[in-house]
Amino acid sequence: MIVCHCKGATDRDIRRAADGGGEALSAVGRTCGAGVSCGSCLETIREVLREHARGSETGRTPGKRPAA
Ligand code: FES
Repeated sequence: MIVCHCKGATDRDIRRAADGGGEALSAVGRTCGAGVSCGSCLETIREVLREHARGSETGRTPGKRPAA
């Protein structure tokens, strides 16, 4: 899913940038450029980062159900 239309960055790009370390929002901007132009995607980026962090804490991939 495209999150940042200015840079064409996807939710996958954002999760990958967050995994690279550093402060997540800054890392996203540095790595894929998302959120650094018009800024209209910042809230969506934050939501992707929150979901990603929750998935990292539980070891689950957000949006995927555990195997039955
Ligand atoms: S849509 Fe992401 S900076 Fe403009």
